[in-house]
Formats: sequence, C-alpha cells, structure tokens
Amino acid sequence: MFYEWDDGMKIGYPEIDEQHKGLFDFMNEFFAPCAAGAEREEIEKIIDYLEKYSQNHFTDEERIQVESNYPGYSQHKRYHEEFKIVVRGLRADLERMGPTPELIAQIEMAVGSWLVDHIQTEDMKIGKHIRDAQKWREELEAMRAANQLRDQE
Ligand SMILES: [Fe+2]
Repeated sequence: MFYEWDDGMKIGYPEIDEQHKGLFDFMNEFFAPCAAGAEREEIEKIIDYLEKYSQNHFTDEERIQVESNYPGYSQHKRYHEEFKIVVRGLRADLERMGPTPELIAQIEMAVGSWLVDHIQTEDMKIGKHIRDAQKWREELEAMRAANQLRDQE
C-alpha cells in the first residue's frame, strides 16, 4: 500500500503542495510497513500525525480560501471538519481494539480515499480559483495600463 504522488496533484500553491506531498511521504515511510501488522505505538504515531495534519494543514488551507475569497469555503471547511471526526474515530478505535487489521484498513481508507480524493477534487478547485483570480487581476491591470496610455495620448 503505497501512496503515489505525482505532480498532477499539485494545486499550484507551493505551500499547500509541499504539505500534501509531506502527507504522502509520511504515509509511505511509516504507514506502508504497517500493512503486515503493527505495534500500538506505530499506529498511535500515525494517528497523531493525521490529527496534527488535519489541524495545521486544514487551517492553512482555510486561511488561503478566506484570503482569496474562495466561494466554496464553507462547504470545504465542512469537509475538513468531517475528516477531523474520522481521525477522532480512529483514535477511539485504537483505544478500544488496539492495532487490529481492521483499524489499519480504516486508516488506509481514510487517507487513501478521503484525503487523496479530497486533494484531487476539492483542493484542486481552490488552486483553479486562485489562478483564475490572478489572471483576472493581470487582465485588469493590463486594461488599466492601456487606458492610461490612451489618456496620455
Ligand atoms: Fe482541503
């Protein structure tokens, strides 16, 4: 179970792209070996990481959305809150059942289908929004510059 990063997953915002890639790197280094069974501390370390990741990374992403007036912000924030609940559930399951194969499968699903899907669909939209806004600003500036030139003639 390896998480394969490719540059097609970049949303075009370097700070966020680095954090996304960091998730893949971490999972490949620490979670992939757990497929064959894991100690409690190893799974705990992964859940700790996901918890911190969903706090810090989501906060950064939400800040960027607010700053860029992203129209899908409240929906996106809801998705983030949902993932935090998933992570709390993983922790509760670890406390209750220990590092079972079921829990490992749940983590794999949470990251593989939730986070990776989220990056490829929802986060991608933020990237597009920022690029569009940038293009719009550039066009506006070019128009202003052209008008100024015309007024000077
Ligand atoms: Fe996100």
